[in-house]
Amino acid sequence: MLQKKNAVLVDGVVLNGPIMDSKAGEKFVEEACKIIMEEVIQKAEDVTEKVCEWRAPETLKMILDLEMRDTGESHQKLLQLCQDVIQYSVKTSHPRFFNQLYAGIDYYSLAARFITEALNPSVYTYEVSPVFLLVEEAVIKKMIEFIGWEEGDGIFNPGGSVSNMYAMNLARYKFCPEIKEKGLSGLPRLVLFTSEECHYSMKKAASFLGIGTENVYFIKTDERGKMIPEELEKQVQRARKEGSAPFLVCATAGTTVLGAFDPLDKIANICEKHGLWLHVDASWGGSALISKKHCKLLHGIHRADSVAWNPHKMLMAGIQCCALLVKDNSGLLKKCYSAQAAYLFQQDKFYDVNYDTGDKSIQCSRRPDAFKFWLMWKALGTTGLEERVNRALALARYLVEEIKKREGFQLLLEPEYANVCFWYIPPSLRKMEEGPEFWQKLHQVAPIIKERMMKKGSMMLGYQPHRGKVNFFRQVIISPQVSREDMDFLLDEMERLAKDL
Ligand SMILES: Cc1ncc(COP(=O)(O)O)c(C=O)c1O
Repeated sequence: MLQKKNAVLVDGVVLNGPIMDSKAGEKFVEEACKIIMEEVIQKAEDVTEKVCEWRAPETLKMILDLEMRDTGESHQKLLQLCQDVIQYSVKTSHPRFFNQLYAGIDYYSLAARFITEALNPSVYTYEVSPVFLLVEEAVIKKMIEFIGWEEGDGIFNPGGSVSNMYAMNLARYKFCPEIKEKGLSGLPRLVLFTSEECHYSMKKAASFLGIGTENVYFIKTDERGKMIPEELEKQVQRARKEGSAPFLVCATAGTTVLGAFDPLDKIANICEKHGLWLHVDASWGGSALISKKHCKLLHGIHRADSVAWNPHKMLMAGIQCCALLVKDNSGLLKKCYSAQAAYLFQQDKFYDVNYDTGDKSIQCSRRPDAFKFWLMWKALGTTGLEERVNRALALARYLVEEIKKREGFQLLLEPEYANVCFWYIPPSLRKMEEGPEFWQKLHQVAPIIKERMMKKGSMMLGYQPHRGKVNFFRQVIISPQVSREDMDFLLDEMERLAKDL
């Protein structure tokens, strides 16, 4: 016979039994999943859908009912909110979303994300994340193989910017290990080198780590945006003459705007000669390592001490999926970052505590980002990943050739990678001489076209001024959902949007 329990009251709160209505919760998740399936996943390839449903912030605030109230809303209202959120969000999986260095939808990594969202693990100890820690280890091992190191170490981080920061700190720790305990006082002026085309995270990392942005020496690049090794050599010597302490060179493999690859082999020679840590920011370009055809872009990467590589960009593993990989296999990463929290990393556990890898990270809670990459890699195989990279770069070549054929389009430079940078010169400017007035007028064209494409919702691609060049478009090609027809559409649409300019 079931024993009836008396209600236990503490501070006027009944503590018997759970207070969540799990059946209603399950039903809500089911219905929300149905909306995700119908409104996001099934529409991902549909070019008749809009890329974005643009609304100004004030209008969007009114549509969305953002206020949080004392009483909860009904499921019906919440499902409508979910619909609204999807409707007014940018569809980054749309074949005509070319705006950033990520795009498209990978079904396997998406399923992996659903699994990890549901399990809600934190990857620091084997006891709470046995599978995800082993998965991370396997993925890091494989990425290291592609870099060409025999062994190494690594950690997945929330972003390439964070990976770059990790690398900068690690290089500094290697240079002066006592910094971990003693801090910055008493250190010489530390200087690091990176190209003028590097990602802005270098500056942020230098300021965040107390190195100071003035101590980042930006090395000149050639006309294609690649670091000039001779200039690097000069700047290292200059820093030494100034009495400062050079410790790090950050080369970029796949620059953000132009998609340029620094000459890693030559840079590695200089690093070796001067005893400098070589970090390669391959956040964007690292995925070319998967392609036998294009891996030569990163020739010499095996000589790096550390590499940042984001599978969430070209390989579509889903934001965020970013690894910092380190050649050292003597535990440098752990020595640099560990704090040995006794409540989490007990040394007398019943299993091999070497699998408690969380102390290599600056984070405590950490998402199992390697898992989505792993499931995708399992599904597609290396060959499938390679095919994606090859196709994206072939499509970029196709677009370049089409741009060359069309009146009014002007390439900035021959791309090495998937960034196609070009100006659209509207009819009214085509006969004008290329003087200051021409450039000043051309500068205004891209923002107008961008506004029009977003308000129409037909496509999204980015523009920027860049190092003395007036606003130009940067077209980025990634997703296998994108086809030649989308490239043709892009050019036709640009002509349509700007015909009156
Ligand atoms: C070359 C390069 N490095 C680093 C980053 C930063 O990566 P994340 O956006 O993951 O922080 C980017 C981003 O586009 C990049 O292009």
